Amino acid sequence: MENPTTSGPREIELEPGKTYSWCRCGQSKTQPLCDEVSHKATGFEPRRFSVSTKRKVWLCMCKQTKSAPYCDGTHNTLKK
Ligand code: FES
Repeated sequence: MENPTTSGPREIELEPGKTYSWCRCGQSKTQPLCDEVSHKATGFEPRRFSVSTKRKVWLCMCKQTKSAPYCDGTHNTLKK
């Protein structure tokens, strides 16, 4: 699979009680979250997730993390 991006993570504040959709395809216009449209021809589906407390997190932008949707530092090992 080709890397959609080698960008570092993006910080976002999340609220409990909401369901978020992390973009897995790399094509979303609202990164790092899915725009519910751009993945349709890619074969990818977004990763749905939620949090139990309000908090800021770093969401993966390179789409290669092993702990999706959160950054695990993998972007530092990818070729730019
Ligand atoms: S736009 Fe990328 S997974 Fe939905």
